[in-house]
This record gives sequence, structure tokens and C-alpha cells, in this order.
Amino acid sequence: MALTNDPNWWRTATVYQVYPRSFADSDGDGLGDLNGITSRIDYLQALGVDAVWLSPFYPSALADGGYDVDDYRAVDPRLGTLEDFDRLVAALHGAGMRVIVDIVPNHAGSGHVWFQEALAAPKGSPARDRFIFMDGLPANSMDNAVRPPSDWANAFGGSVWEPVGDGQFYLHLFAKEQPDFNWSNREVRDEFLKTLRFWSDRGVDAFRVDVAMALAKDLTAQPLPSTAELDAQGSGPHHPFTDRDEVHEIFSEWRELFNSYDPPRAAVGEVWVDDPARRALYARPSELGQAFNFDLLQADWSAEAFRQVVASNLALAAASGSSSTWVFSNHDVVRAASRLALPGAGGGNANNLRDAAWLRSGGTEPVIDRAVGLARARAAALFMLALPGSAYLYQGEELGLPEVLEIPPDQRQDPAFHRTGGQLVGRDGSRVPLPWEPTGPSFGFGAGPAHLPQPSWFADFAASAQAGVAGSTLEFYRSALRLREALRADESLTWCADLDSPDALGFARGNGWRCYINFGTRALQLPAGQVLVSSAPAPGPDLGSLEPDTAVWLDA
Ligand code: GLC
Repeated sequence: MALTNDPNWWRTATVYQVYPRSFADSDGDGLGDLNGITSRIDYLQALGVDAVWLSPFYPSALADGGYDVDDYRAVDPRLGTLEDFDRLVAALHGAGMRVIVDIVPNHAGSGHVWFQEALAAPKGSPARDRFIFMDGLPANSMDNAVRPPSDWANAFGGSVWEPVGDGQFYLHLFAKEQPDFNWSNREVRDEFLKTLRFWSDRGVDAFRVDVAMALAKDLTAQPLPSTAELDAQGSGPHHPFTDRDEVHEIFSEWRELFNSYDPPRAAVGEVWVDDPARRALYARPSELGQAFNFDLLQADWSAEAFRQVVASNLALAAASGSSSTWVFSNHDVVRAASRLALPGAGGGNANNLRDAAWLRSGGTEPVIDRAVGLARARAAALFMLALPGSAYLYQGEELGLPEVLEIPPDQRQDPAFHRTGGQLVGRDGSRVPLPWEPTGPSFGFGAGPAHLPQPSWFADFAASAQAGVAGSTLEFYRSALRLREALRADESLTWCADLDSPDALGFARGNGWRCYINFGTRALQLPAGQVLVSSAPAPGPDLGSLEPDTAVWLDA
């Protein structure tokens, strides 16, 4: 299947996220690599995805799973070479799939040559100006130590400020190995334009932009606002580092570069902001084109919550000239097949990130009913795949993989775990290398043990054990993705009220197909029509009924 020059391919694409270190290991060192991905292209093609998003594969000390990039225009030697990358791109293109790479512009890895230069350079030097260095506050008389410029905490626990020994501190919104760039510095902007051009010239079709809302910063206030003040105020134009208006100048400049290619390079921003209307600004055609909408993955398991998320995001996408993005899983959240079964605080069916955090906290071990989780994850997937816009799948989601809870502390890698003394369990449980086969030292991932331990129950989820098996999660995804082709023609959605239950949702697409989903606890009678695909793990006795935690597509 040859790729077309369609400049709008991304609007309705099904994108598959590969976390390279945990996808497939071609050389047996325990880490997944680029050749491993190339060796699994048939699998991706048979799954029926349109594009593959590669999480970072750049040289990195792995302080944050590769999101600490030491060199933006190279491949981590443990993962391969630039030639391997070119071969992977050619093979994906040859198989009809586009390639999206992750770009991490908010911060470097601390091994980046510019950061090393900054550390060696004096205060006030041009080398330090590429990052955000500030003087500490005067020593307090108690212990005579210079104090950090503010009380802000980083995303993984502890301060955002790291002292460098000469009275100055540098800013890191994430781990201390991830120093924030100074985007007011023209050299930083030019360097990233060079990087975007480098990968675009190598045939990359699109970019996923990490932490897009935090690039523009203004830390000139004296004194800097406190955390309490920032929390009260929320993200937006007056926040020192989240969602400032100047960030849009950066992405407008990127868009000019993207549009100099044919077809234009696409982009999707990771944008965590309080106001969804401000998130839509990043998705304007004059900027990134799309921004991740994480609302579904944070929604409670209820018809009303899902309906509101869909309606508001379709409206926002239309208003900004974008198309919506839908996400249930990625490398940062608890896998949907576990998250969707978490007992809620009040109602018994909440699935939001607060519960997910509780799951990760290791505090009270929640009882996770795997059957419920899988049924809901499959229903949610079928619902998502019927929506207008593009759908983002995360590796292993198509196998129904649950979160791995049983990782021993000394084998955990996530800085969130280590920086909070284990209070947050972190994200490793969703990053355990995939099971390809039911046997072998790493279930077909590679020739040796994997870099994160795989539990024995991974055998039950192996891709090869599901391929060709009617009713398996893999075959379910394959059927849904094949059928989804027919939904591309237009981006319209009309709600249907014919299920007559507040616990169910139904909508029709432009070609007359309908999708119904039942969030309730009793079976509902389906309207007339032929069931094209059902999310039920085992077909129910009566195809005319919609069981709890199930979704179906009906024909026109
Ligand atoms: C994004 C990534 C996450 C990473 C963080 C810092 O949120 O998805 O994995 O830890 O940025 O780069």
C-alpha cells in the first residue's frame, strides 16, 4: 500500500505508539531497539494502523526513560544507528505507515553538550543563557545555605532547582537530569529548527511534541510566586511556565518549517493545561495542527462523562480547524485494562487518574477484576475507534495487557519512584517489554531477559497466542481497525437516543453506521441492524442485546 501525498492524513489516522526500549529486542541485550521494530512491521501492518509514533530513541542516560535527550540528532547506540533508523522509516513507508518521532523541546538530558558547557561556564555567560540559571536567595541564618529561587516542586518529587555550587541554581521541571532550555534564547530556537529539519529530511512525517505548554517562561517576577499562589491562579498567560501566550510564537515558527515540506509535516502537542479552550490554540492549523486530548482517559466510566468529553472536544477541534485526538493509554498512565476496573472512591466504577495514582501509590492494593478491566478496555476502544478524528493506541493495548504491579523496588526505573522514596510507584508497570510468544527468556521480546521483569502471566497475553484466535483481543482490534477505514469519509457524529437508558450512549457516523456502548449493569435491547463488530470477549447468547461494559458497531 503506497503512501499518498494527502496533506490531511493525520486527521483520521490510527496511530500506534511504540516505546522503543520495550517493543522488540533484536540483539538480546534486554533493551528494545530500532531493528526490533523493523522486524515487527508485518505485525503492525496486519494490525491495520496508519502511523507509528516512536517515543525517544536518542542518546540518553535514561534518567527518565529517554525523555532526557543528550543528542537530538542521533540514535542511542544501544538502540541502533541512523542507518537503522533510515531502514525502519523506509520499511514503514513501504508498508503504508507514516512515522512520527517524539521531540523533547522543554528540557535536555544533563549529558547534552550544551548543558555540560553551561556547567563549566561562569555565571552570566552565553552558555548558561541557553538554560535557566538563577541566583539562589540569600542564605538563611539557621544553616547558612543559599536557598533555591522558589519553592516549586518538580513533576517527580523534590525541588525544580538544583544548585551548581557557585550560588546559582538551574531549573528542571522534571528530573534534575532534565535541565530546562531557555526558549527566549534565539540559539535554542534555531537549534530545534535544525533538529526538526534533520528528521523531516530523513522522511519523518510528523512530530509528537513533549510538554508543549511549558516552553515559554517568564521568571522575572521578584520574588517568584509561591506554589500556593500558582495553584490558586492555574495555568494560563500569567503563569511563569505553563501555557504562556508567547509559546505560540514558537509553534508558528515550527509550522512555517513544517509547511515547507510536501506533504507538510504534521504535529501533535502534549498539552496539559487547565482550560480546554486554550489547549485548542496549540492545535490551530497555523501551529501544531493537533493537541492531545486526554479527557477520555481521565473520564469516569459513565455515559454522561463520555458524552460530554466527546461533544466538547469535537466542538473545540472544529472551532480550531483541527481534528480531535482520542487516547486511552500511553507510557505515562496505568494501562486501561487495569485502570478501567479500579474501584472508585464512591460509586465503585471510577477510572480516573486519582484512582490510578492510588493504584501506583502501593498504599492499599486495590482489587482489580481483570475480566471487568478487559471488557471495559475493549468497549472503550471500540467507542474510541468509531469517533471522528484520530485515535492513539499504545503498544500492548491491542493485546489487552494489564498493568504490571509486581516489579521489585530495586528493578524500578521511573524517577517518580526513586525521587519520592517509593511513595509514587511510577510508570514502569505500563512499560514492561511486550510478550510476543508464550515462552522464552523474555516471551519473544528478545534472546535474553528483558530490562524490566515480565510476570509469568504475560504468557496468556502473548501476541502469537492471540493471532488467528477468534474473540482474542488482538483479533478484535484487527477487525475494528479494518472496519474503521469505512468511517474516514467524513468527520460528522450524530447522537442517537434509541437505547433509552441513561447508562448507554449511541451515535451515528456519516455513512449511517452506529456505535452503542453500555456503561450500566443490565443488558439493553439493541436497535435493529447487523452487528459489524462487538467488543464482548466472548460473543453473548443474544446478538440483539448489549451486555454491560460492551460496545458494538451496527451497520446502516
Ligand atoms: C512527557 C512524557 C513523559 C516524560 C515527561 C518529561 O510527559 O510523556 O514520559 O516523563 O514528558 O519529559
